[in-house]
Amino acid sequence: MSLPAHLKSRHLPLGDQRTGRFYGQDILSVSQFTRDDLEYIFGVADAMRNMVAHIGTFDLLKGKILANLFYEPSTRTSSSFLAAMERLGGSVIPISEVRYSSVSKGESLPDTVRTLECYADVIVLRHPETGAAAIAAQAARKPVINAGDGIGEHPTQALLDLYTIRQELGRIDGLTVTMLGDLKYGRTVHSLSKLLSLYDVNVHYVSPDLLKMPADLVAQLNEHGLRQTEHATLEGVLPESDVLYVTRIQKERFADLNEYEGVKGAYVITPETMRSAKPRMALMHPLPRVGEISGEVDHDPRAAYFRQMECGLYVRMAVLAMVLGKA
Ligand code: ASP
Ligand code: CP
Repeated sequence: MSLPAHLKSRHLPLGDQRTGRFYGQDILSVSQFTRDDLEYIFGVADAMRNMVAHIGTFDLLKGKILANLFYEPSTRTSSSFLAAMERLGGSVIPISEVRYSSVSKGESLPDTVRTLECYADVIVLRHPETGAAAIAAQAARKPVINAGDGIGEHPTQALLDLYTIRQELGRIDGLTVTMLGDLKYGRTVHSLSKLLSLYDVNVHYVSPDLLKMPADLVAQLNEHGLRQTEHATLEGVLPESDVLYVTRIQKERFADLNEYEGVKGAYVITPETMRSAKPRMALMHPLPRVGEISGEVDHDPRAAYFRQMECGLYVRMAVLAMVLGKA
């Protein structure tokens, strides 16, 4: 029987009998997860949260090394993976600026990951090209975790997004989730909508015409039974939304900056907007924000985006512990 590309059990050390969920596996796409997997991951993340609250740092991954390989800018993903590894007693090779690595001499992605896996036990990769994480995973024997591949996916973000929704609203089934902004280039909404298709939810997409959710993804999710509707304005759907997931217009993905100028600032959430929202709603954003949510909203109890970032630490601790066979 041939193993799917993300299964690397064949590379486990001889005699290693550990069968923990995701042990030795790549995390490339949320399509890998079942609902049961998600409940398991969230349970481990809850345990990580407790451990951090009570003892701060502990030695679950003592002696393990993570290579943090970022070809694109990042604050949250890179530093939360770093903090996750250090909270678990492991250490990190940080390559957050590939310009200063041999990538700038022309070294290929496969050779770069082959190099790093000589020194590390797991590789976290962010790259501007869709599919780059899968290419890296093919080249590497060690697990590769996709930290964002172009406009493709950002699976650990979607895990932390769903974990946040569960934390904020206590459930996922039965909710109405509205995604707003750049649904064409935003990889976080691509991953999140796929994960939501595992649940009984209604999803509204609100975007300028130019930045609609890719039609092939909508069709694929339709086949999975996800109830989706598309809109140009927020007003009609906001009052029934349990989650409003706002995104940044992804300036760096536009070939024509005039097009970006035409859509930037299309939607801005203000205290006035929040007046039409449910009293119990989660206002989320993967961040960074560049004007889509006004700072005046930050003190609204429904503003969940800072709590969302914190969830990233616990979820990434869970993912690292799992792929390294310790959870
Ligand atoms: N930080 C997220 C990402 O890397 C969202 C964004 O940059 O707008 O996809
Ligand atoms: N949400 C997110 O991926 O943030 P960074 O781009 O700062 O890592």
